[in-house]
Amino acid sequence: MSTPTYSPGLEGVVAGETAICTVEGGLSYRGYGVGDLSEHCSFDEVAYLLLHGELPTAAQLQQFHTRVAAARRLPPPLKHLLGELPKWTTPLDALRTAVSTLGHFDQDAADNSHDANLRKAERLLAQIPVVIADHYRASKGLPEVPARQDLSHAANFLYMLRGTEATATEVKAMDVSLILYAEHEFNASTFAARVIVSTLSDLHSGITGAIGALKGPLHGGANEKVMDILFATGGPENAEAWTRAALARKERIMGFGHRVYKAGDVRAGILKTYARAAAPAAGAEKWEETADIMERVMAAEKNMYPNLDWPAGRLYHAMKLEIPLYTPIFAMSRITGWAAHVIEQLDNNRLIRPRALYKGPAARAVKAISDRG
Ligand code: CMC
Repeated sequence: MSTPTYSPGLEGVVAGETAICTVEGGLSYRGYGVGDLSEHCSFDEVAYLLLHGELPTAAQLQQFHTRVAAARRLPPPLKHLLGELPKWTTPLDALRTAVSTLGHFDQDAADNSHDANLRKAERLLAQIPVVIADHYRASKGLPEVPARQDLSHAANFLYMLRGTEATATEVKAMDVSLILYAEHEFNASTFAARVIVSTLSDLHSGITGAIGALKGPLHGGANEKVMDILFATGGPENAEAWTRAALARKERIMGFGHRVYKAGDVRAGILKTYARAAAPAAGAEKWEETADIMERVMAAEKNMYPNLDWPAGRLYHAMKLEIPLYTPIFAMSRITGWAAHVIEQLDNNRLIRPRALYKGPAARAVKAISDRG
């Protein structure tokens, strides 16, 4: 057998084909640039695009909205479970458990046909924001706020979380962040979902695994670290010295760097405008100034640039959302990309089973236990 080629972390390895998204020449979903989508479309239209392959007509969007809005509810046993989880359960862990639990209640759970997977994907798209909002409110001892069928994905989420309607500016900012988080080719969580369903497992299992992969701070968990880092600097006066000292200690500054984008992440530039615009009302200009200083130091010292999590953490903070909700919000958007990939994988499946380069001991014989000294 020939020696397989090996790239640590699979860097640069093409591990499959997809028609959903490319990072070549700027990020695009099914051929549409994310800048164009953020400017001209709602997240709901982008969700339809990712799941169904084309941007919707007005009638298709209306029908999609009706189906998704009608599914914005949870089975009572899951509501009960969310209220009973230990108080230290993080919102993302609760979401992972909830998606797994939702599989028990979905009548299509074991059906891997294209149409059944689309139905399940639309239901999860509807249910995930409800899980996040219900768990959040239960953890604060607040009564749940029933979903509104007339609101968009972003507007309904903010409404359920807070119990009051968000402003149009807040909804637009949240919507753009969801569009930018929706899909990103073979990132770790999406690849995890594809590996899981390539065994002919099911969509809920794939999404549960994807949420587990998203959690880590090298992936989706990074957006929950951004404000901690900014707070740790103390503010603009100390930002440069703090960043240089952290780099000297070989610490990673979460929200910077990317496996694929070495010259900058187009999504970060788009969302920075929204983080910047939201800051004054929240009295958060200081953190925008701090972020600018850190960006300059990271570029000069490490030739490293912000990724999407850097402005997303700041935007959500300026919207007065609590930090442990940030990665669940990422998941509330990425469910569209994950599900599109699960469907694409299962529509043309081949088991994903790579090889490992063996680094262990050479072949040897088992000694009797009395001879093992
Ligand atoms: N701050 C400081 N140093 C860094 C950073 C960073 N954010 N990222 C990488 N480095 C250094 C790293 O320490 C290593 O240095 P050395 O060669 O001296 O050991 C070098 O750069 C290469 O790092 P790597 O981990 O081999 O590079 P990678 O291509 O695997 O890294 C990454 C990609 C995203 C894991 C990494 O840049 C990172 O850890 N960033 C911080 C976490 C983060 O923001 N993640 C979000 C990613 S994008 C959106 C998402 O998925 O949520």
